[in-house]
Amino acid sequence: MIPLAEMADHVLRTADARAKTALSRDYAAQWQAARDTGAKPEIGRANPPDAPARPAEPALLDPRDVPRRKPGSPQGRIAILHAVAHIELNAVDLHWDLIARFSDTPFPIGFFDDWVRAADEESKHFNLIADCLEAMSSHYGALPAHAGMWRAAEDTAEDLMGRLAVVPMVLEARGLDVTPGMIRIFEKARKSDPAAAQAVAAMEVIYAEEVHHVAYGSKWFHFLCGRHDLDPKEAFHTLVQRYFHGPLKPPFNEEKRAEAGLPPDFYWPLADGKSA
Ligand SMILES: [Fe+2]
Ligand SMILES: [Fe+2]
Repeated sequence: MIPLAEMADHVLRTADARAKTALSRDYAAQWQAARDTGAKPEIGRANPPDAPARPAEPALLDPRDVPRRKPGSPQGRIAILHAVAHIELNAVDLHWDLIARFSDTPFPIGFFDDWVRAADEESKHFNLIADCLEAMSSHYGALPAHAGMWRAAEDTAEDLMGRLAVVPMVLEARGLDVTPGMIRIFEKARKSDPAAAQAVAAMEVIYAEEVHHVAYGSKWFHFLCGRHDLDPKEAFHTLVQRYFHGPLKPPFNEEKRAEAGLPPDFYWPLADGKSA
């Protein structure tokens, strides 16, 4: 088995989306199998690319130029699934990038267990959503997608606490806020569109598993605050204001955020119309 940081680097340098998720799942399984024997596999070091390799399609556009479609139509539902697939693929790369880029920061092995599991789950999520698109006679790459999704990674490439604050604790927490609404859109379409039921099932898997990713973020953010003797809430506010562009948008899913170890006094002071 190659060191974990090298695995991460290989996933990041794989362009084809299905090949990327297959490699990601294979490496995660190797890691887990080794961990199940009680071994502590080598982490190693990597020099990851500034931005991950991506397929030639989808074309990446400024978010303002991505056409909006009505969610009530089949084309609108395809557009939603396509946007979710793009987010999931980005998340695969974000988790492996975290492992590769910060492999020289000493951590208990559980840090790596958590992010390998998160990367594996994102890979599963991408595959589930890509399967839904194919069941609707579309595919990932058929529509343009948002450019700039890698910005959070670039902005925090030198700052692990900033990365944890912005990626799992802001962006992935936002996923917990918006996923129930997307599930409702597909539930409504169930009667007229058999593929919608498949999308509901896929999104329910995503909704359940994303809670872990936010929780891993909160756990390791608090760990680092303890290591550096920082107040977690104050550190979170400072880092989100430094690296996240714009206020957080309510309504928040307070129940799931609480389950993930994200208390209201972390995010409410950063919400639209307030200042920390
Ligand atoms: Fe995901
Ligand atoms: Fe996630």
